[in-house]
Amino acid sequence: MEKFSRLPRHVSIIMDGNGRWARQRSLPRFKGHYEGVESIREVVEECCVLGIRYLSLFAFSEENWNRPEDEVSRLMNLMSVAMLKEEENFVKNGIRFVVIGNRERLPDKLNETIDSVMDKTREGKTLTLIVMLSYSGKWDLLQAARRAAVLHPDGNFTEEELSSLLVTAGIPDPDLLIRTSGEMRISNYMLWQIAYTEMVIVDTLWPDFRKDNFRLALREYEKRDRRFGKVK
Ligand code: FPP
Repeated sequence: MEKFSRLPRHVSIIMDGNGRWARQRSLPRFKGHYEGVESIREVVEECCVLGIRYLSLFAFSEENWNRPEDEVSRLMNLMSVAMLKEEENFVKNGIRFVVIGNRERLPDKLNETIDSVMDKTREGKTLTLIVMLSYSGKWDLLQAARRAAVLHPDGNFTEEELSSLLVTAGIPDPDLLIRTSGEMRISNYMLWQIAYTEMVIVDTLWPDFRKDNFRLALREYEKRDRRFGKVK
């Protein structure tokens, strides 16, 4: 295996195309989500092999609550089952599991599972796996702004202070954002945190995005010249 000269510390992924993957096979949409969990497994494993420290996944947006009730409940159930199934694996491999988002909207059973898996994996040092669930960038900014207004009624607060009020506080900003299925949009994801993130958009649908596709995206990142607005 050819080594990478440079790897991102934090990779974030907008996992898109599960529905289309299923439709192409005349399967119900949820089959695409099931297969998408296999892609997650491969990418997580690869992060551990390569030494990538943070992987965040956009699993469900605040807008996704508007999907048909059946799809939403199947997704919630799938997440619960997948988390419980992987719990032991997470502990064994030093994976710290974190869920970020508007958890008030999640079903009680899923919240209980999340609390338990987060608690059991909190000592994990190899990889922090962050699942963005019931998350949207505007929701995050708004809750941070509301808290900032209470903490700093004079309106005098810094960029760092606002960052520390976002639900992603403590997690470095993503270095690389991958979006699958070829859509050229941000879809209300981490609006503040991706200010200088490198983007790689691939046509592959998420259930087909496996280890090799992930490596190709990392190769693309390796070639990027990150200037952060400066002249080099
Ligand atoms: C996007 O495809 C995918 C989702 C909205 C759900 C992704 C969630 C999972 C794969 C399960 C995650 C499980 C854990 C434990 C984190 P889409 O449905 O928008 O596809 P389409 O654009 O082709 O319709």
